[in-house]
Amino acid sequence: MTNGSTASLQNEATANSATQVGETALSSPLQQLYHPVREELAQVEVMLAAELRSDAPFVDDLVRHAGRLSGKRLRPALLLLAGKACGSLEPAHIVLATVVEMIHTATLIHDDVLDEADLRRHQETVNARWSNEASVLLGDYLFSHSFYLASTLENTFACQSIGRSTNIVCRGEMLQVANRSNFNLSEDDYFEIIDAKTAELTACCCLLGACYSGAEIELRDRLEQYGRYLGLAFQIADDLLDVCGDEDSMGKSLGTDFEKSKPTLPLIRLLSTGNATERAEIEALLQLPAARRREALLRRLEESEAIQYARERAQSFADQARRLVADLPLGEAQQTLLHLPDFVLARQQ
Ligand code: IPE
Ligand code: IPE
Ligand code: MG
Ligand code: MG
Repeated sequence: MTNGSTASLQNEATANSATQVGETALSSPLQQLYHPVREELAQVEVMLAAELRSDAPFVDDLVRHAGRLSGKRLRPALLLLAGKACGSLEPAHIVLATVVEMIHTATLIHDDVLDEADLRRHQETVNARWSNEASVLLGDYLFSHSFYLASTLENTFACQSIGRSTNIVCRGEMLQVANRSNFNLSEDDYFEIIDAKTAELTACCCLLGACYSGAEIELRDRLEQYGRYLGLAFQIADDLLDVCGDEDSMGKSLGTDFEKSKPTLPLIRLLSTGNATERAEIEALLQLPAARRREALLRRLEESEAIQYARERAQSFADQARRLVADLPLGEAQQTLLHLPDFVLARQQ
């Protein structure tokens, strides 16, 4: 856990070591990956900044904080890249890329309340800086604003897809809350949760990008499935980082999965492959005070093959994603879609 001043120092360091796309500081690997859509991503930044304003000072403070929280911009980039891989980018793509980033940010703000996290995107979380009440309201503000923005488009397809996917994301977060401390959770049930809370939105981004470039059904489906596999690989990698990652480079609170007793793939594997005595020992470690749990469990995980197993499962989803775009029309955007699965597996941010 990091206090506010450490968080802002870290933020400065990150911004200084990164180049700029629009108003956003991105690491140089991402800068290169996003090159085919750099101009459109800059337009998304402008639209986000314009939309995240209010004439009520407290509301303005909150929405600007949300705007300053500039993460990897993976979802808008996916939407734009999928669109570009299928045809040309239209003004609707910029609106939709802004919408999905706003929705993602809203889910993070709410998620930080659920996880009692105090660091996000190298800054204090809204709940740490203000309160849970402010987080609930700011998340709602961003959700409702994103639906308003989506409804400004000519047809209702985007609203329907985004509404459906956001609903599934919330379902995933609810399933996760329902399964806290359920250390009998099966792998299939874990995959159902991460498919809903994370892969659904990345799939929706790719689908929308393709649709708004006029892609035929087969191609839309393929890109949607690409986004889903990428999202699954992304969340498994994220769950590994929660166990083994470095808080300073990630810029967010880690260890919250153990603190909140969320069963994720490394732990599910460890529990399901141990004998009765080992399982009892691990369950005892899960009862340790939250602050000591991560270290104790990390040691057990490192002695086992559970971390390697989770890496291989993430790798397998990343491979499946890659195969789906291998024979798309050759181009810069297609190349990035081919390389993104590797980035997702290797990321330390
Ligand atoms: C964090 O997503 C939430 C998960 C699905 C694990 P990101 O890691 O994409 O967050 P930002 O947008 O870069 O901050
Ligand atoms: C949350 O998963 C994913 C969302 C849909 C918000 P995590 O709880 O693992 O995300 P982080 O690690 O806090 O970013
Ligand atoms: Mg979280
Ligand atoms: Mg996480």
